[in-house]
Amino acid sequence: MIISVPGETAQGETRVALIPPVAEQLTEEGHDVYVTSGAGEGADWSDDEYREAGCEVLEERSEVTEGSDVVLEVRGLAADEKSTTDRYREGQTVIGFLGPYGLDGELEDLADRNIDAFALELMPRISRAQSMDAVSSMDSVSGYRAATIAAESLPKMLPMEMTAAGTVQPADAFVLGAGVAGLKAIATAERLGASTVANDVRPEAKEEVESLGADFVSVGEETEGMSDEEGYATEQEKSFEQKQKEMLMGVVPEADIVITTAAIPGRPAPQPITSEMIEEMEDGSVVVDLAAESGGNCEPTVAGETVEHGGVEVRGPTNLPATIPQTASYLYSNNMKNFLDLLISDGDIDIDTEDEIVDSTLLTHDGEVRAPHRQEEGEGDEDGSDETEDAEKKEAGE
Ligand code: NAI
Repeated sequence: MIISVPGETAQGETRVALIPPVAEQLTEEGHDVYVTSGAGEGADWSDDEYREAGCEVLEERSEVTEGSDVVLEVRGLAADEKSTTDRYREGQTVIGFLGPYGLDGELEDLADRNIDAFALELMPRISRAQSMDAVSSMDSVSGYRAATIAAESLPKMLPMEMTAAGTVQPADAFVLGAGVAGLKAIATAERLGASTVANDVRPEAKEEVESLGADFVSVGEETEGMSDEEGYATEQEKSFEQKQKEMLMGVVPEADIVITTAAIPGRPAPQPITSEMIEEMEDGSVVVDLAAESGGNCEPTVAGETVEHGGVEVRGPTNLPATIPQTASYLYSNNMKNFLDLLISDGDIDIDTEDEIVDSTLLTHDGEVRAPHRQEEGEGDEDGSDETEDAEKKEAGE
């Protein structure tokens, strides 16, 4: 097969879908890998390194994609407002972050042109899919980066220090949402010496938070019903939201660092942190809102910007993995290779829609639009296998 890595087109994107060591595994398996010149530059991989890995480096993006069977990207249709389905050719298999929740007419177009499009955002939360789960990989990188950004911006040290010149108290960090990104942010803040507390609507998050040495602050009414069978949080009742705000009013103003990661897939982010809570924080404190792109968990957040609110720096980063491109590209490439291993049989793409991973991620196939499934009614685990082994999933990011 010809597998192409055309490179990223989105503003500020530094990641690459396939780094040379992983591309080499594919060329050794007998595939041709075409790469656009400069595709790996943002992640410090040169054209020569791709050539040494057995890839063909071509000047133009169009030359790379033209004759290829499979197109690998980080942000395909999700790249930017200008990205259209024209970037793909009839009959191709396309894999990447495709922004499935925002697509509409594009899916019809892909289906009409017989393109098999896989959206990695829809990877199911099952044990077998963990090695292909690029969302978790990127969330983990983002959580780490959120904590290091906060540490760098804060005009204080994070750890407790007992010195001859006086005792420095540890910085206080609060993390909202203890999924993959949140747990990584907690672990990083703890390692840097902050005293960390966290909250999540899923009661099972308490144990995970505490296992990292942090404290869990509870609304007192978190129940099993606050997440669906896949482990995703659901939208909360108004009465819970009110109680959570009351709890947060006691916690947020005490924090030097607030990192927010609360998300509900395919929906606007919940926004339990009010402007008033942030105004009550000490001057010089820092908020890093990882939910900025889907509306933000904090009222003052502006996606892609840093705003000052009541003396507090409120950051709304939209693509933190791109600030650590080497690690992010390494993890993404491995996820991609593991996914390709699932799809390739006897040297060719062989789409088995009976496979839960294929079924969940495949947006268009055989001229038809099929997903995103998660938004459809009545979808669920069908085989009743051990796919919800939460305990082993929890530590996916840490
Ligand atoms: P996510 O990115 O969908 O959401 C982030 C966190 O925000 C979640 O923990 C969610 O419960 C929390 N949240 C949502 N609304 C909230 C609110 N109003 N207030 C406070 N917190 C709120 O979640 P993510 O990171 O994907 O992880 C969720 C669970 O799924 C975790 O237990 C994780 O370990 C598990 N997981 C399992 C995987 C697998 O088995 N392959 C892969 C990824 C995650």
